[in-house]
Amino acid sequence: MAVTNRNRISSKDPAIRVTLLPKDTNANGTIFGGIILSFIDLAAAVEVGKTTSQRAVTKAFKEVIFKAPVRIGEVVSFYTSTDHVGNTSVTVKVDVEVLRDNKEVRVTEAEVTYVCIDHQGHPVPVNKER
Ligand SMILES: CC(C)(COP(=O)(O)OP(=O)(O)OC[C@H]1O[C@@H](n2cnc3c(N)ncnc32)[C@H](O)[C@@H]1OP(=O)(O)O)[C@@H](O)C(=O)NCCC(=O)NCCS
Repeated sequence: MAVTNRNRISSKDPAIRVTLLPKDTNANGTIFGGIILSFIDLAAAVEVGKTTSQRAVTKAFKEVIFKAPVRIGEVVSFYTSTDHVGNTSVTVKVDVEVLRDNKEVRVTEAEVTYVCIDHQGHPVPVNKER
């Protein structure tokens, strides 16, 4: 694999860190927003796992802001924090950053709500195990 990014990787600990390739681009040649959204969803799921190991599904994406494009080959980090644990839901903030000229640049941010469900797919209270 050819990697063009030669920036020093941050020591902060993301939920996910990836490098994206030409297959993930939009018509402008930068990374397609839907690809970023799918990684945000996965990163949020990882964060929810810090609260509970219950089955959970994505209920809502809120305040998704694409602040700057992501370029092919950049190292993209998805940083997460738990914003709110409700009765059945867990809301997570996801900050997406790339390394550019040895600085972390915020490219996207979003808030994602997951809902804990039972085997029938009905909401159940969050069992805070962790
Ligand atoms: C998730 C699901 C089971 C929730 O069912 P529901 O009947 O809407 O549940 P409720 O109205 O009781 O709401 C459940 C929780 O979601 C929260 N919620 C509802 N609408 C919301 C919204 N628009 N934004 C954020 N949170 C929301 C509620 O506040 C509640 O949280 P709380 O219990 O912590 O207060 C159902 O909507 C569903 O199956 N959706 C599809 C999930 C899916 O396929 N996701 C994509 C693939 S994983």
